[in-house]
Amino acid sequence: MSNKFWSELAERLTPYVPGEQRQGDNVVKLNTNENPYPPSPRVLQAIAATDGHAMRRYPDPTSIGLRESLAQYHSIDAANVFVGNGSDEILALAFMAFFTKKAKEKSSANIDGSAITEDAELQFPELSYSFYPVYCDLLNIPKRVIPMCEDFSIDMPAFDNNGGGIIFPNPNAPTSLAQPKQAIEALLERVPDTLVLVDEAYVDFGGQSVVQLVNQYPNLVVSQTFSKSRSLAGMRLGSAYANPNLIEALERVKNSFNSYPCDVIAQRAGIASLADDAYYQQSVQQIIATRNRTSEALKARGFRVLESATNFLFVSPPGNHAQSLFNYLSEQGVLVRYWNSDKLEHWIRVSVGTDEDMNTLLSAIDKAPMS
Ligand SMILES: Cc1ncc(COP(=O)(O)O)c(C=O)c1O
Repeated sequence: MSNKFWSELAERLTPYVPGEQRQGDNVVKLNTNENPYPPSPRVLQAIAATDGHAMRRYPDPTSIGLRESLAQYHSIDAANVFVGNGSDEILALAFMAFFTKKAKEKSSANIDGSAITEDAELQFPELSYSFYPVYCDLLNIPKRVIPMCEDFSIDMPAFDNNGGGIIFPNPNAPTSLAQPKQAIEALLERVPDTLVLVDEAYVDFGGQSVVQLVNQYPNLVVSQTFSKSRSLAGMRLGSAYANPNLIEALERVKNSFNSYPCDVIAQRAGIASLADDAYYQQSVQQIIATRNRTSEALKARGFRVLESATNFLFVSPPGNHAQSLFNYLSEQGVLVRYWNSDKLEHWIRVSVGTDEDMNTLLSAIDKAPMS
């Protein structure tokens, strides 16, 4: 069928491709960094207690109850907090609010006196969340991709104060490596004219959060999610933190797009989740223990495994068999993530599941024809 009714935009996009959501009882799903444990029973109670009266009405467009709970959790003010329909949505709104900058005029001019402009490029690491370039293409934001260091860490000194913006996950995905808080503070000091968005989707599994710095640095935005450590990927709930001026920019974009990104159930579930922190501390500790045990088991099998501060492992199988191992595991119903690209061709990303899931993975690896 022809695309004659498509907009030019719809035609030129290359959308993000999420990991396969294969259904079935015999699938061990280690490909989208979901939490293997359910959310707190209190969250499930809050969801079940939502009655027809609550559902009949539009939700609070400001999500103030949830924002206050998050503010209390982080010892900041509700005016520092923004919430949205998953951190993916928050990132999209942030790209619109902060990164669609006009080209900047350079101080020098052309010979005819006309202004020389330079593009305000968004800077992000070469290996990072693959949604960033997709949002750039959607919104016509020029990109500057920063090559990784030899050890796969982010080359922090390579970011510059270009005014276009900087974004990176910390800890990073898919590499699983974390930057210390000092390195981020040093960057914020060095690039005062450039907005820095730190995507802390995985921070609870071993990273150092910079949420506490939002009132100190006018150029800092931090995003977090309920999808990973809080087991609510199916709910779609994310948060962002910044000074009130930057939060206002996010609110302006949100209110020009969808006034009610967080539904009644999501707001209640989020509040209930924050009220049961002990439950999450325990499930995060369990995931960290399983991660460390799996890391050792893979190293013993000759894999190269990066030092993970997340709920996934970034690993390179011996003999450069990443793609064939990925295919073999998929046939066995063990789903992991593989990107068929130059830099990543020898690597796979494995989400940390239950101990049983990881035992299934390890025994499948032991039976793989290439090992
Ligand atoms: C680095 C990073 N940021 C953001 C997200 C989006 O999370 P969500 O939209 O579920 O909050 C993900 C999801 O995998 C991620 O890996």
